[in-house]
Amino acid sequence: MRRSSLAPLALLLGTATALPSYGHLNDLLSRGNKNQDGEFAVDLVRNDNYRRNGAAELAWAYAKYNKNPKDFHMGGNSRVSPGMTGATGTVVANNQSYDREYLSPIYMGTPGQLCWLDIDTGSGDLWLFSTDTPAFYLDGQEIYHPKNSHTSVDIANASWSITYGDGSYAGGGIYRDTVQIGNVTLHNATVESATAVSRSLTTDPVMSGILGLALNHSSTTYPQQPTLLDSLRPTLEKNLFAADLKYQNAGQYHFGYVNESAYTGNITWRDVLPQSGFWEFYLQKIHVQGDNVWRMHNWPMVADTGTTLLLLPTDLVELYWSFVPGAYMSDVYYGWVFPCNATLPGFDFGFADDNTWNATIPGHYFNFQNVSDTLCYGGIQDSMEPFGILGDAFLKALYVIFDMEHSRVGLAAKKLLS
Ligand SMILES: *[C@@H]1O[C@H](CO)[C@@H](O)[C@H](O)[C@H]1NC(C)=O
Ligand SMILES: *[C@@H]1O[C@H](CO)[C@@H](O)[C@H](O)[C@H]1NC(C)=O
Ligand SMILES: *[C@@H]1O[C@H](CO)[C@@H](O)[C@H](O)[C@H]1NC(C)=O
Ligand SMILES: *[C@@H]1O[C@H](CO)[C@@H](O)[C@H](O)[C@H]1NC(C)=O
Ligand SMILES: *[C@@H]1O[C@H](CO)[C@@H](O)[C@H](O)[C@H]1NC(C)=O
Ligand SMILES: *[C@@H]1O[C@H](CO)[C@@H](O)[C@H](O)[C@H]1NC(C)=O
Ligand SMILES: *[C@@H]1O[C@H](CO)[C@@H](O)[C@H](O)[C@H]1NC(C)=O
Ligand SMILES: *[C@@H]1O[C@H](CO)[C@@H](O)[C@H](O)[C@H]1NC(C)=O
Ligand SMILES: *[C@@H]1O[C@H](CO)[C@@H](O)[C@H](O)[C@H]1NC(C)=O
Ligand SMILES: *[C@@H]1O[C@H](CO)[C@@H](O)[C@H](O)[C@H]1NC(C)=O
Repeated sequence: MRRSSLAPLALLLGTATALPSYGHLNDLLSRGNKNQDGEFAVDLVRNDNYRRNGAAELAWAYAKYNKNPKDFHMGGNSRVSPGMTGATGTVVANNQSYDREYLSPIYMGTPGQLCWLDIDTGSGDLWLFSTDTPAFYLDGQEIYHPKNSHTSVDIANASWSITYGDGSYAGGGIYRDTVQIGNVTLHNATVESATAVSRSLTTDPVMSGILGLALNHSSTTYPQQPTLLDSLRPTLEKNLFAADLKYQNAGQYHFGYVNESAYTGNITWRDVLPQSGFWEFYLQKIHVQGDNVWRMHNWPMVADTGTTLLLLPTDLVELYWSFVPGAYMSDVYYGWVFPCNATLPGFDFGFADDNTWNATIPGHYFNFQNVSDTLCYGGIQDSMEPFGILGDAFLKALYVIFDMEHSRVGLAAKKLLS
């Protein structure tokens, strides 16, 4: 078997450990793993650095799916007063940290420069803050220094740009460079460097950028460049990766293998909807604990590690919160809020063709944050679309496999630590 001479950078957290503080992130990188060639694990840490409140999270998700936050007020069943100004962070929320974002250590260039990237199955670009980014956009994050990398190549006349529905944007130039993820080294990978970023995207002093792993979703590069998933595919033992996010704890991504000890019961495999470009599949049975019936339908859902909340179509959101006394759609906090002392019901789901497989997301996973002494912001909010977005609030209760080879998503229950 081929041996890599690289110092492995992945750390396997075997037990639930206390959350590392950001001052000690580098200490996390000292241990190796025992994987085969073409298999590697990448750690995650929760970013405790509070950045967005619930309303801003919602706005971010809408923006990502090109939904204008203003639509929120115009929605058919909107109970929002016409005078309110939108979701751009005007809501004051306690800066108590919840699982807003998970970051993974990735080394850019040669010699490797440590950057903390948000692995995002809901987008297709790998972009970073860099020495090309004007200082006033930066907030202390680790950035990419292409000139310090002797493998970086500036691609002349190539560019990228993402414009979100709410008018926020990011864009810049493109390099080819070496990218190390786990102990896999990708040569000549496409690295998008930010020269302009909206202020709303830059206020996180830890996140260096985003690593998009959407299925068959082209990046915003022009002319079109290979995505990271394109570069990664040939190096993987199995053409898949898995997310093992954890509730208020560090998690892992597994590339090239399924970790049999990370889940319990059977894996259910769901085909990705043709032509979607996202990791999108149908949820078919839904049950809110306390309800006396299961609801059946084909609800398209996108598995998106880059979204924090669970966003569901309006009818499901109303169904869920109808089981929480005192919950209401707030025009002050811009979303569903509930009395913090309420007990949130669990959310069960399954599939029409497999009655032996059901899973539950525990209710307390949907307590996103306090917004006042007595009110909390819900982790389930309205997608304002017929499809839903299975963000971290949902995914962290499961072991989730993203299978490029068969264009399918595997879901399995796992032992939850809390
Ligand atoms: C597999 O998952 C278990 C449980 O999460 C974890 O302790 C272990 O480190 C993982 N091993 C690999 C090789 O991913
Ligand atoms: C990753 O590291 C392990 C152990 O250090 C090694 O056996 C394996 O070959 C490495 N994988 C790659 C793709 O280099
Ligand atoms: C909340 O913000 C205040 C002021 O910025 C800061 O002093 C405090 O440490 C923060 N608390 C948490 C839990 O992040
Ligand atoms: C880049 O664009 C400029 C202006 O359009 C052109 O002069 C130059 O030849 C281009 N360079 C490459 C490498 O395509
Ligand atoms: C790097 O990748 C690009 C795009 O796939 C390709 O055109 C180029 O030849 C590659 N360069 C090297 C040195 O492999
Ligand atoms: C797993 O699937 C097998 C075959 O369909 C079934 O017999 C078994 O009961 C399932 N196990 C669990 C834990 O659901
Ligand atoms: C994704 O692309 C691969 C390779 O082009 C193709 O085989 C597969 O069917 C596509 N998957 C979806 C869901 O479109
Ligand atoms: C929650 O607290 C309010 C007062 O703040 C009280 O009226 C209500 O009964 C409490 N509900 C529960 C379920 O404890
Ligand atoms: C899963 O849910 C269905 C309801 O559609 C129920 O009939 C079945 O018994 C459940 N299975 C398990 C294993 O809980
Ligand atoms: C947050 O909510 C909890 C109840 O879930 C309450 O006990 C606590 O006082 C609240 N904290 C703040 C800072 O409002």
